Amino acid sequence: MSPAAPSVVVTIDGPAGSGKSSAAEALAGRLGWQVLDTGAMYRAAGVLALERGVDPSNGPAVAAVLRQSVIDFDWSSSPPEIRLDGRPIGEAIRSPAATAAASAVAPHPEVRACLVESQRRIAAEHPRLVSEGRDQGSLVFPDALVRFYLDAPVEERARRRVRQWEAEGRIVELADVEQAIRERDRLDEHREVGPLRRPEAGVELETGSLDLEQVVDRLESTVREAMAEHRIVAEA
Ligand code: DC
Repeated sequence: MSPAAPSVVVTIDGPAGSGKSSAAEALAGRLGWQVLDTGAMYRAAGVLALERGVDPSNGPAVAAVLRQSVIDFDWSSSPPEIRLDGRPIGEAIRSPAATAAASAVAPHPEVRACLVESQRRIAAEHPRLVSEGRDQGSLVFPDALVRFYLDAPVEERARRRVRQWEAEGRIVELADVEQAIRERDRLDEHREVGPLRRPEAGVELETGSLDLEQVVDRLESTVREAMAEHRIVAEA
């Protein structure tokens, strides 16, 4: 029997609010592929630390509880829902406390090593995957078929977040959101392991003046061209 063909991965990285989550989900939908939200995994690690009473900024302690737990996704829902030890935690990971805990766990090499290993295992199990985060093209899947980098000016990213939250009934100050995004950019860009980076030979897209439909059109046509060039079929 010939060995299974390697998985085909498309990565989408970018800063908070660049629109990569919505774009990744929509792109995966158009291609009929699975989507992996790696930010949700860092958020789940943050929630785990909070639940176990572990200091989220203590990397070795967080990694120790991570190794005793299972963070995975329910692939039957769309988009796949994150689970912690089999329990759906899709809502819990979006709370302000979970957002802060995710930022605190993310710089630690021990934590990143655990989650990167899970991300590669997920790719092996899902042979057509759009994976979205900060380090997916630069570090986790450097051989991805296409490595996108989405960006937008910080002011625009903050306005998008405010609109998202207002739609969910949360009232927030634009200036506060912009300040929080600047701080997350600083943390994401300056950590030593897995920092937010433009991947080598990646495809950059400025999303500031584009709507979601336009962004996804560009991503899809780039992926389809690459698939044709490499003779990759849509299904494994
Ligand atoms: O994309 P997000 O806001 O859900 O990400 C949550 C946190 O996880 C954020 O602090 C950045 C971090 N993160 C990371 O360090 N590496 C990734 N691949 C994805 C997210």
